[in-house]
Amino acid sequence: MKYKYITILMVAVSLWMSCSTSPSPEATTLKDAYKDKFYIGTALNVNQLMGGDAKAMDVVKNNFNAIVAENCMKGEEMRPADGVFFWDEADKFVEFGEANNMFITGHTLIWHSQAPKWFFTDAEGNDVSREVLIERMRTHIHTVVTRYKGRVKGWDVVNEAIEDDGSFRKSKYYQIVGEDFIKLAFQFAHEADPDAELYYNDYSMDKEGKRSGVVRLVKSLQADGIRIDGVGMQGHLGLNHPDINAFEKSLQAYAALGMKVMITELDISVLPSPWENTGAEISKRFEYREAVDPYKNGMTAEVEKKLADRYIQFFKLFNKYSDNITRVTLWGVTDGDSWRNGWPIPGRTDYALLFGRDYQAKPFVKDLIEMAK
Ligand code: G3I
Repeated sequence: MKYKYITILMVAVSLWMSCSTSPSPEATTLKDAYKDKFYIGTALNVNQLMGGDAKAMDVVKNNFNAIVAENCMKGEEMRPADGVFFWDEADKFVEFGEANNMFITGHTLIWHSQAPKWFFTDAEGNDVSREVLIERMRTHIHTVVTRYKGRVKGWDVVNEAIEDDGSFRKSKYYQIVGEDFIKLAFQFAHEADPDAELYYNDYSMDKEGKRSGVVRLVKSLQADGIRIDGVGMQGHLGLNHPDINAFEKSLQAYAALGMKVMITELDISVLPSPWENTGAEISKRFEYREAVDPYKNGMTAEVEKKLADRYIQFFKLFNKYSDNITRVTLWGVTDGDSWRNGWPIPGRTDYALLFGRDYQAKPFVKDLIEMAK
């Protein structure tokens, strides 16, 4: 009889033990803290997708609920030649997002940079006609969006088509097709997946000229009955630029159009910007020099605080507009993944993201979590 009670006691203790383990450090994570406000996303690179960084993928699973393809869905990557589609990396990206129940964003269908080399030229190397380029755009967008229909929930349909002064970037798309290439891109994407959210995405969206140009573009698409759901403010920031008030003014302007606003590529560089007046010859300003790579061996406490304060300042703004913001995506998982280490000056050591090279959340991340409550 007594063994029965001992057994019951042992079962009770083991149950208590299983429930009473101290909460894992991730128990309160960014994705949990913000789940009723907006998605918290990150960009995945090919090395991560192909199994080269399991620790980074654990950080993603535990802390983020949205992902975007950093490079594997760009034209240059997916379309090595006319008639050829390379799916391996993009398939892995979408499969990872589905396996982890994440909001999956495709980046990017039409972009002047990293476009397929052959896209704009004929066999003789001359520019193709307007009709040929439109057909190539239609084939590309229809084929890619159809493959991931119902799986990729949102697309950066057109990326960086407006200049800082609000004019159209004179890309090959613009030169050959005209400004209608934007409308056509959104139309083709909607034809392929009527349920997918469609976005316009750009950088320096705080600038007044860009703001006016993007507002004009969105209004034009809306007037023509073309579906556009949201505007992506990339959010490649520095410690001292842009002015957060200008950023807020742009956020308000895009929200006023009825747009979902997303912060799509957030990172904050702590390194000197070559655009600050260093007085040096421009070619030198963009060459690596010790003077512009001051934190090779780690940030100073002062810079760490500036970075923390800057992230807190912007997350306060995101919380203020959580009714309009649907996603905040970091442009990379750990500091070692960030493109900011290599641009605009190659070979530097930056600290632009939320997780360090040790895969640990930076101390200020808990402040970002707290402010969501
Ligand atoms: O995959 C090749 C590799 O095979 C080769 O050995 C290596 C060296 O040449 O290059 C690798 O491709 C590089 C790719 O990143 C993957 O690392 C490209 O050269 C390089 O240009 C590419 O840079 C990306 C850049 O966009 C241009 O596509 C950055 O990682 C990516 O963070 C950056 O992201 C953009 C957004 O898409 C749009 N908004 C701006 C943002 C920053 O530029």
